[in-house]
Amino acid sequence: MNIQRESELRSKRITAMPRSVIHMMSALARDVDDPVSLSWAKPVHGTPEHINAAAAKAVKDGLCSGYSPGMGLPELREAIAVKLRRDNSIPARPDEVLVTVGAIEGITAALAAVIDPGDEVLLPSPNYSTHTEQVRMLSGKPVFVPCIEEEGFRPDIAALRAAVTRSTKAILLSTPSNPTGAVFNEADLRAIGDLALEHNLTVIIDEAYEYFVFDDAVHFSLASVPEYRSSVISVFTVTKTYAMTGWRIGYVHARSDLVFEMNKAHNCMAICAPVVSQYASLAAINGPQDCVEDFRLKYLRNRDRVCERLDALSEHFSYQRPAGSYCMFPRILHPDGKNSLEFCKRMLTEARVSTTPGVGFGPGGEEHMRITFCCAYEDIDRAFDRIEAWLT
Ligand SMILES: Cc1ncc(COP(=O)(O)O)c(C=O)c1O
Repeated sequence: MNIQRESELRSKRITAMPRSVIHMMSALARDVDDPVSLSWAKPVHGTPEHINAAAAKAVKDGLCSGYSPGMGLPELREAIAVKLRRDNSIPARPDEVLVTVGAIEGITAALAAVIDPGDEVLLPSPNYSTHTEQVRMLSGKPVFVPCIEEEGFRPDIAALRAAVTRSTKAILLSTPSNPTGAVFNEADLRAIGDLALEHNLTVIIDEAYEYFVFDDAVHFSLASVPEYRSSVISVFTVTKTYAMTGWRIGYVHARSDLVFEMNKAHNCMAICAPVVSQYASLAAINGPQDCVEDFRLKYLRNRDRVCERLDALSEHFSYQRPAGSYCMFPRILHPDGKNSLEFCKRMLTEARVSTTPGVGFGPGGEEHMRITFCCAYEDIDRAFDRIEAWLT
């Protein structure tokens, strides 16, 4: 078949989607001898044992061979509603909860329920790379609104307001943020809620890292405020909270009519979330929570070490101390850092340390690199010893 005909057979929309820089770096890392990774947002520790055991028991008891209801197991949606009331101050009912295949499918379902082709979605940026492509995949238009780097990557409310047009339908953000580590404060989130009410927009908030906040930062769920609740879709996941990236369970809270619409999209994408993983998530949410605090303390210790090591390289990098998540977004001051992709590729092949080029996180991400610190503690020094030797 000739090449032109082959390309005509493909969707223009998907063909235009850039390859993820994270996957590009992972592919490159396969040819590097013993690389150290500061690039995956995937915790290195395993899922806690009581969660694994609950999943094994569900399989043994023959509970996992069929579909669950599309919206999720009733007992899991009930447990999630209790968790949302307890930890997020969202007075949730089970009919306002949809269990999804990770937060990622929840966001796709949310966007599918809210936008039509050509609608604009505002993204406070640098933003999680997949959010951009999810909007594009649904034929929406991502509109990047730069955050204020010098203020810890706070959202720029005036700039968001100025970016609203007649086509704007939604604002999509993550807090705590991947890639910057910013935690949007209550006042800023309320200002975003006000903007949504004024212009009849939906705010889709990816709260994947809700439990990982440091120092005096507080995670605030905008849907906890009655006047904003009907304008907000909140997306959560067990992936990060309980180190369960492979189980693929997330969940969404929204108005019940929106959940009904999202479930139609979810039905097209997945029918239901994996049933064995729903049982594992039930054990995670209902079980002891000390593992979550253990993880948080590990990330805090790791963050502090990364910051110490970066302080010693202040000629080459400046950074905003992350208040949450396990990501940070240093600015590359080194003259070669203008092209973050080339810089990170060289760091990988020459220093054998993998980071993620900032250009993957929206146009404002250039001249930065994303570092994740969910790695083993010792890997931080291994990585920075190599980076230091490479730069000096
Ligand atoms: C901000 C953010 N949202 C969503 C996801 C994906 O979550 P899940 O594994 O629940 O699909 C990630 C993963 O890195 C993330 O960083």
